[in-house]
Amino acid sequence: MLVFVRKLSGRACNTVSIIHKVYKLLVKVAFLFQTNTLVSVNNVIYNGINVIICIYFKNIDDGRKEEYNSMLKEIEIRRSIRKYIDKSVEDEKIIQLLESARLAPSGSNTQPWNFIVVKSELNRKNLAEIAHNQKWMLSAPVFIVCVADIRCRIEENVNLLLNENSPQEELKQIIRDTSISVGYMLLEAENLGLGACWVAWFTQDKIRPILNIPTDKYVVGIITIGYANETPKARPRKKFEEIIHYETWE
Ligand SMILES: Cc1cc2nc3c(=O)[nH]c(=O)nc-3n(C[C@H](O)[C@H](O)[C@H](O)COP(=O)(O)O)c2cc1C
Repeated sequence: MLVFVRKLSGRACNTVSIIHKVYKLLVKVAFLFQTNTLVSVNNVIYNGINVIICIYFKNIDDGRKEEYNSMLKEIEIRRSIRKYIDKSVEDEKIIQLLESARLAPSGSNTQPWNFIVVKSELNRKNLAEIAHNQKWMLSAPVFIVCVADIRCRIEENVNLLLNENSPQEELKQIIRDTSISVGYMLLEAENLGLGACWVAWFTQDKIRPILNIPTDKYVVGIITIGYANETPKARPRKKFEEIIHYETWE
């Protein structure tokens, strides 16, 4: 294991962006030397001096580390895909996507998620239309419509019509949990060599009738799935320093 410590003046440079560049470079180098992998790149501030600590190229000595690193790689290279080649997606791959969603964590293990696999041209066309006519969606051969079911938290005999303005506390919880499962699916799609995009630009009253979804369910997203016909650049992300806090907010 090689440990590399570098000190830099806090004012002289933006350590976070350097970390990011160093990190990307190391990921590339780690790729070249397949037996080694990046372990971590950390930034600490000590007495007003930014210190970058890079610990990298540790030999992989157990399967878990290899899994962890490959996950990070997939997270980094995933993109929202809005252009697909004219090729159907194997059923086994769809099952695998759904399985990754099924295994997601949820508050109190309530598992509020349901998924509707949509392949028919008519349904896809109708769904793209109510999603503000995002025509690109139609190049995807499969849509997975992700539905949160509040019945894991509220009894059947309570009448409910859920929409964007519903006050139910439980609605937030089921949207939160279903969103985690969708995130898992997006990563599994990347892992399987598939492209995907989460579409949520629609309203409940428009999407519901297309797929006969009852009024006590809430559609969290339509996930377009297919083989990518584009390689979009990474969309920008906020800098570490903007979003990471240590111990307290301030
Ligand atoms: C909840 C949610 C809703 C989204 N809705 C849409 C959408 O309706 N149409 C679309 O083209 N992209 C949609 N996206 C994709 C985002 O635009 C995309 O994730 C973001 O720009 C970052 O790009 P990346 O996914 O390639 O990293 C959505 C993403 C999320 C998480």
